[in-house]
Amino acid sequence: MPTLRERTEGFTLDSWRKPENQRFILRDRVRLSKFKEALEKTVTSQSVVIDIGAGWGVLSIFAAKAGAKKVFAIEAHEVNIEKAKKEIAKERLGQKIELIRGDSFEIPREALPQANVIVSETLGFMGIGEGIVGIMHDAKLKWLSKNSMLIPRRLSLYIASVSVPHPPKKRMMMLVSQRYLHSKPRIIEQYELGNDKDVSNLDVPPNHVGWFVAELHENIVLDTSPFSPSTSWEQIYFP
Ligand SMILES: C[S@@+](CC[C@H](N)C(=O)[O-])C[C@H]1O[C@@H](n2cnc3c(N)ncnc32)[C@H](O)[C@@H]1O
Repeated sequence: MPTLRERTEGFTLDSWRKPENQRFILRDRVRLSKFKEALEKTVTSQSVVIDIGAGWGVLSIFAAKAGAKKVFAIEAHEVNIEKAKKEIAKERLGQKIELIRGDSFEIPREALPQANVIVSETLGFMGIGEGIVGIMHDAKLKWLSKNSMLIPRRLSLYIASVSVPHPPKKRMMMLVSQRYLHSKPRIIEQYELGNDKDVSNLDVPPNHVGWFVAELHENIVLDTSPFSPSTSWEQIYFP
């Protein structure tokens, strides 16, 4: 099993203890609206949902409000569990949402029932930086019943050559205007979440920009490209 450190890049697992990081992503309206829409399209009154990396509970609350029978919210850090508990109580959803503190890799299969929906917003740097590929693979093996759904279900990583006016010397997150792109974007990696287990090392040529597109549901994509409204992920500049 990889260590927590090896699974993450950019925002490390540890950095999610900080309230300012949780607040930062909770301000990303594009992110929230896409996940909400996907949950509303997927969840039924019969659904058992597992939310992996629940943070302050926002996606679990969306799932419960979409009508789920039961939601299990797994979160690594106690400080976030405490905050999620308050948010869930405010919505009076304490009966529907059960909070579980722990690293999803360490929670045994028997601890939770089989789920109809597994949702996880552990999308990091270039989509893969927080370990979503391994997290979904492990979760599917343990908890996904037949004919059930993963949100997101597919992750595509794109790059395009770029020339920005003041190029940074190191790899970094930045918003890159589409007018600086020199080539048509191309996919460098694609992951079927739940089925794929490992990520490969990103092999990106110099002076490129990269981003990801996560397919959350048929026709619902979270697109972090320079062609779409900006998100908290921005794009990644590769010098
Ligand atoms: C990007 S935040 C998303 C939080 C929340 N779901 C949201 O959408 O606002 C990812 C959260 O997942 C948690 N996390 C990451 N990997 C985890 C794992 N394997 N097991 C449990 N929690 C994890 C982090 O502590 C963090 O709170």
